Amino acid sequence: MTNAVAADGTITLEVARYRPEQDERPTFQRYEVPYRQDWVVLDALNYLKDYVDGTLSYRWSCRMGICGSCGMMVNGVPKLTCAVFLRDYHPGLIRVEALANFPVERDLVIVLDDFMEKLQAVKPWIIRDDEKPLEEGEYLQTPEQRASFEQYSMCINCMLCYSACPVYQSEEKFVGPAALALAQRYNLDSRDQGNHERNELIWADEGIWDCTFVGECSTVCPKHVDPAGAIQQAKVESTIGWFQSFLTPFGRKSVKE
Ligand code: SF4
Ligand code: FES
Repeated sequence: MTNAVAADGTITLEVARYRPEQDERPTFQRYEVPYRQDWVVLDALNYLKDYVDGTLSYRWSCRMGICGSCGMMVNGVPKLTCAVFLRDYHPGLIRVEALANFPVERDLVIVLDDFMEKLQAVKPWIIRDDEKPLEEGEYLQTPEQRASFEQYSMCINCMLCYSACPVYQSEEKFVGPAALALAQRYNLDSRDQGNHERNELIWADEGIWDCTFVGECSTVCPKHVDPAGAIQQAKVESTIGWFQSFLTPFGRKSVKE
């Protein structure tokens, strides 16, 4: 069934299905979908949903690599399904599963709660010890100061890095790549004074020191955030902070100060 879709043959999709009201565990279902060179994997899923099986559940929104909601395992690798083409796999089979390392809610939909709690826990907002009056204007920043954290601010919360991380796979308490990169983004921001609050969490056992620098998080990141680099940078700062605590035991300074 091609339903008026101009296609160049078909391609096989093997899609993980899990309907908790009827399935004890996820199983795979095979579908033939039209093969088009310009289709991404998400287009094929949308075709299935529209024309073959309306019960298939998955998340997506923007279809342009911005919202971060369409992450899934594609042939065992965490990918944004709106950013990988059928032609990258054709004529082979494409296996689509929910993101690894997360509980599955239904079909390709994962439970986000742990990730959301970790993002919140690193306090991803500007913290000031001293707030100046509004009439004095904004806190200015040079282009160089902004550049120091810009890369870490490109995250779209797609969770591919958690799905690729072997530490998170075995240690659920690990704060994880994206949240640690986000903490670093604010810790490096010249307008922020909240390092001491964030570092309580990120310098703790389940924070940066749990990372074994496998680097898969940075490999799979579609936005080149380089969370592995952020974590290694934070480790250096943590070590400097540890030494500073002996020199200035009553007032450890943040590295950016
Ligand atoms: S760091 Fe990269 S892979 Fe991880 S959530 Fe952000 S954008 Fe996605
Ligand atoms: S649908 Fe928004 S990133 Fe893929």
